[in-house]
Amino acid sequence: MRLDKYLVHTNTCTRSEARNLIRSGRLLVNGAPPKAPDLKINEGLDLVTLDGREIKYEEYSYYMLNKPAGIVSACEDKREGTVMDFFKNEPCKGLFPVGRLDKDTVGLLLITNDGDLAHRMLAPNKHVWKTYYTELESPLSDGDLEKLKNGVDIGDETPTLPSRPEFAGESRDKVFLSIHEGRFHQVKRMFEAVNNKVVYLKRVTFGPLKLDETLKEGSFRKLTEEELETLK
Ligand code: URA
Repeated sequence: MRLDKYLVHTNTCTRSEARNLIRSGRLLVNGAPPKAPDLKINEGLDLVTLDGREIKYEEYSYYMLNKPAGIVSACEDKREGTVMDFFKNEPCKGLFPVGRLDKDTVGLLLITNDGDLAHRMLAPNKHVWKTYYTELESPLSDGDLEKLKNGVDIGDETPTLPSRPEFAGESRDKVFLSIHEGRFHQVKRMFEAVNNKVVYLKRVTFGPLKLDETLKEGSFRKLTEEELETLK
């Protein structure tokens, strides 16, 4: 890979800044100042440093974010900030959120630059399970629980596929709902279909990933090797 591309991929600088940075003398490749932006770097072997600090290369990066409420989960938004603002200084370009959570939804969001993995996690025919913790306006009856289990009419062409609702404790207005589709506002609309209303929504699992409850809302961390193994 060319040195300038390496610098862009690792979010060290933009492509137009690369030439000046390479000339500046602050950047060394295997201890020597590089002569030109098209110098070939072997990502596994060559040591690239900026001001003495290694610039590590990873082809793909994977993060778990505990999304806070009030933030849009998109790469860009015309009017406001997005979840990607948390990742501005990460040493990796091209990150994006895998799927979306509503602005007022909190919890587990996978952030990566691995398009193939994102596709596998989101493709409708892969049926990846997602679990949401919900707090409801009214207690849920056994009848409504049964309806949600079998699938409900949320106004789309077809009813939702069978889901797995489960009370989160003693109280009937706190429910875990697991689904393996990804329709627009699906969880909220499923509870509306049984004349209820979601007042708090938090995603706690996404496929094999479980939300790390030690992550405060608005914090993120890299996936562990084990988590990555289960994803792949
Ligand atoms: N279902 C919803 O209604 N909202 C979300 O953010 C995710 C699932």
